[in-house]
Amino acid sequence: MFASSNKNKYEEAKGILAKFGISLRFFKCNLQEMQADTLEEVAFHKALDAFSKCSKPVIIEDDGLFINSLKGFPGPYSSFVFKTIGNEGILKLLKSKRSATFQSVIAYYERKNDVQLFNAAVSGKISQKPIGKKWGYDPIFIPQGQTKTYAQLEEKNLVSHRYLAIKKFANWYLHRQESNDR
Ligand code: IMP
Repeated sequence: MFASSNKNKYEEAKGILAKFGISLRFFKCNLQEMQADTLEEVAFHKALDAFSKCSKPVIIEDDGLFINSLKGFPGPYSSFVFKTIGNEGILKLLKSKRSATFQSVIAYYERKNDVQLFNAAVSGKISQKPIGKKWGYDPIFIPQGQTKTYAQLEEKNLVSHRYLAIKKFANWYLHRQESNDR
């Protein structure tokens, strides 16, 4: 199960995991999002909450956009900042230095007291204006080595922070299955 209130994240995660032969179902719910200084802490608590709600092996994800010239803001507060000032508000805060990283932490909870965390980051920069539709910060984040925002990139799911974190999870999960099968 993939527990989230955000269907976009689920759709992307499902497409990515399908490439590894792992199927995923959506458990739509509002998870408690504690305020903490790291994505890992938030993800850990979200995973406990998700498992208590769905009682099945469950994946959750916590993400953050870290803008270097703003000392990592909005980082772990990315969800709140998106809902309040949004992309336009972020663009107003920026001058010339626009480098940023998009980070993802995937948490997998299967058994009591056993949360596995997988993190990944993609470096990039914030665009001068929103380009492309899609969701969240997609229209303003340009990954390194690209000239297009996530919103414009057809291959987002091959280069994104989500892809890299889920790939780590999938490798762990499949190898664990193999050793259990032996
Ligand atoms: P959350 O706390 O994990 O839900 O994510 C923090 C914020 O980042 C939310 O506003 C999400 O919509 C946004 N976000 C996370 N991943 C992406 C992405 O791949 N593209 C665009 N926005 C994202």
